[in-house]
Amino acid sequence: MRTIAIVNQKGGCGKTTTSINLAATLAARGLRTLLVDMDPQSHCAAGLGVPEDRIETGIAEALLAEPVGGEQPERMLWEVAKNLRLAPSTVALAGLEAARGGLAACVDRDARLAKLLDRLADRFDWCIIDCPPTIGLLTFNALRAADEALVPVETGYFALKGSERQVATIEAMAARLGRALPLRILPTLHRPDAKLASDLHAAIQRRHGAATLPVSIREHESLREAAGFGQPITEYAPASEACQDFVQLVAWLEANPVANTRGATAASLAVAPVEQPVPEATSPRMADLLARMRAHAGFSAEPASTTETTQQPAAEPAPAEGSA
Ligand SMILES: Nc1ncnc2c1ncn2[C@@H]1O[C@H](COP(=O)(O)OP(=O)(O)OP(=O)(O)O)[C@@H](O)[C@H]1O
Ligand SMILES: [Mg+2]
Repeated sequence: MRTIAIVNQKGGCGKTTTSINLAATLAARGLRTLLVDMDPQSHCAAGLGVPEDRIETGIAEALLAEPVGGEQPERMLWEVAKNLRLAPSTVALAGLEAARGGLAACVDRDARLAKLLDRLADRFDWCIIDCPPTIGLLTFNALRAADEALVPVETGYFALKGSERQVATIEAMAARLGRALPLRILPTLHRPDAKLASDLHAAIQRRHGAATLPVSIREHESLREAAGFGQPITEYAPASEACQDFVQLVAWLEANPVANTRGATAASLAVAPVEQPVPEATSPRMADLLARMRAHAGFSAEPASTTETTQQPAAEPAPAEGSA
């Protein structure tokens, strides 16, 4: 089972939209796919038409059970489409990050999800984990359970401004895993017709180098509509350009597998570089924006190293801070 955490502590950058539709597109290709909702907001259930009031047991109960997942972990799964199962969240998940009780009481508190997924691994080919917009224990569990992380970054000015810090924070968390975690940037909510958005897309590539995917998820009204109707884009509008974006994302991920990082050491792994030229700023407005961003604390003028996604182990325990 190949496990991808969709992670960014910034709210509203497209994590859930990416998670739902990536998972649905994999399933539509005939791949057995598990979608795990690690966000107490339960947006995966809402976006897939699962009525929240009918979710009796979810990921929170499974993580706290002994053994993890309980006697039959598959019983919490919802069949939302052919080949697609959802491990739903409920608001109870929010309590798991409390300083006392919840996960904090477990000795293996940051490895509970990894252990749960180990029990389900032989039933699935892919697992997509939707993370909350926080950098606490739930996100850390997702990173520990993942083979790789995908970071949706909007191609908007304010979003890009914060992207360096977001990625640095995720890298810092991943460094505490004690193993490598390939981390890739997925440009989202992209508007290729807007000059500024294209320039910002180029700036993301320049800043994050080889970790930036050559495919992006454009802004599509149909993705908002699909969520509103409780359907993945594969069902709501299978012939749409939005669906095509996800087909391309799947094709790229399939063509660029990562080594199995769980159990491997950081030094033995590196992210496969993306073969593409890195464009320059193409307009005076973009040059001005970049200059302002560089002046802003924390934005480096230097391009990132292409191996920046390989972390070194650190001794400290997982962080449990608040939302960015
Ligand atoms: N590519 C897209 N095109 C159009 N709308 C989008 C796209 N991606 C996301 N959206 C919309 O933007 C809003 C935020 O998206 P989403 O819920 O996926 O973000 P998120 O990162 O999961 O948010 P949160 O941090 O609150 O969990 C939603 O209304 C969603 O429908
Ligand atoms: Mg979300």
